[in-house]
Amino acid sequence: MSENQAKVIAYIEENQAKLIAGLAEAVEIPSVSGDASFRAEVYKMGAWLKNRLSELGCEVSSHDLGMQELDGQEVQLPPVIVGSIGKDTSKKTVLVYGHYDVQPALKSDGWKTEPFELVHDKESDRLYGRGSTDDKGPILGWLNVLEAHQALGLELPVNLRFCLEGMEESGSVGLEDFVVQNKDKLFHDVDAVCISDNYWLGTNKPCVTHGLRGIAYFKLLISGPAHDLHSGVFGGVVHEPMTDLVRIMSSLVSPQGKILVPGIEEQVAPLSDDELKVYDAMEFSISDIDNSTGSKSTISDKKSDVLMARMRNPSLSLHGIEGAFGEPGSKTVIPHKVTGKFSIRLVPNMEPSKVVEAVQKHVESEFSKLNSKNTMKLIPDHPGKPWCTDPKHWNYEAAFAATEKIYGVRPDLTREGGSIPITLTFADALQKNVLLLPMGRSDDGAHSTNEKLDLSNYIKGTQLLGTYLYEVAAVSE
Ligand code: BES
Ligand code: ZN
Repeated sequence: MSENQAKVIAYIEENQAKLIAGLAEAVEIPSVSGDASFRAEVYKMGAWLKNRLSELGCEVSSHDLGMQELDGQEVQLPPVIVGSIGKDTSKKTVLVYGHYDVQPALKSDGWKTEPFELVHDKESDRLYGRGSTDDKGPILGWLNVLEAHQALGLELPVNLRFCLEGMEESGSVGLEDFVVQNKDKLFHDVDAVCISDNYWLGTNKPCVTHGLRGIAYFKLLISGPAHDLHSGVFGGVVHEPMTDLVRIMSSLVSPQGKILVPGIEEQVAPLSDDELKVYDAMEFSISDIDNSTGSKSTISDKKSDVLMARMRNPSLSLHGIEGAFGEPGSKTVIPHKVTGKFSIRLVPNMEPSKVVEAVQKHVESEFSKLNSKNTMKLIPDHPGKPWCTDPKHWNYEAAFAATEKIYGVRPDLTREGGSIPITLTFADALQKNVLLLPMGRSDDGAHSTNEKLDLSNYIKGTQLLGTYLYEVAAVSE
């Protein structure tokens, strides 16, 4: 390990309180992208990052992405914050991506602490708060690395570019076009991309990730009566939108997780014996999933089935019904208009447009069987393609070496079930290798109540990101 590398690691170790305070500032800004009433907080978070990056020596610009319709309002999209530090052509240039928006959170959802306050639980040594692991912890990790270099008066081992967005949790609207349009201006000298926005496979062993599932999100609108009706007066008299919707939603997927829409499973890349061996060999047990879900509810008890379900198979999830009666009590209402929400996670070789076509055909056919006088409309969101890259690349070598130095083990090589829509755009538009290097653990509860980041993951994760940059500088192309 070089002298500078060791100094940076020591600085991070010795300044934990300061690093925690930085993350606390970020978590305190409730930058929820999916709710129009929080939009000002998302801008505030973008401005906070712009200011921090600039204090840390970056040239920073904020890029407007235009308008968006949300909750029936026209609102300004959050800006992309682009940072740049270092122009030394003898060094490699790494592009770092992160997202500064978060999922919604209310204490009443079942949080033990205030979601937008970072709480350090000393007993478990965990940091609780919305965004702690997804994705403010990792973003702060990168800022901490810059801070360590600034405080120690050290030059960075590589040139860095930052691309931080505020819409990832809401489908990264506008970012793809932005990256494609600005690739030659802002990202022309990038040699490799690193994204820290995923999690370990379990709770003990770090991993490096080379694949993500894509996503196709659908809204299925069924409407009939002009307004809500009394079921005592109109029950049995009119076609009920909820009855139609529930039938169609239940025709999409079986309770065993099988996708029932014809033409979807057929698109999935075949499984080879060699690939199956990879899942059998992975260090993982069903209890890792049970710990994360707080239940024993896996569809299969076989390790390879569970891993394949997460990494290489598509899945269809039913998310909710807008307009349905969802409050406590026993209201005898017939909702007049309901919107079912579901999504399909996409894997190689699924083609998003073919998936949308298959779903359209299926819901039309199911609806026609109902002989209903209601009307149905399927509204697909812009889909995100799956991403899977060859890990035989110096970017991955650097990540493996850095993980071994910080954690003393060779990390697992994984694919992930979640989606980060811009990943494939970076790979395609910049034609550079993309790597996912996670900070948090599988049980962090991203998107859930009581989201946390273990303090050790925050500190070692920061050291990992710093060490990765030194390994990138050292590895030969
Ligand atoms: N950090 C996650 C992506 C992720 C999830 C990686 C699980 C690995 C495992 C990201 O913030 C996220 O949740 N993305 C959304 C994207 C969607 C809204 C287009 C997702 O996957 O649902
Ligand atoms: Zn995320």
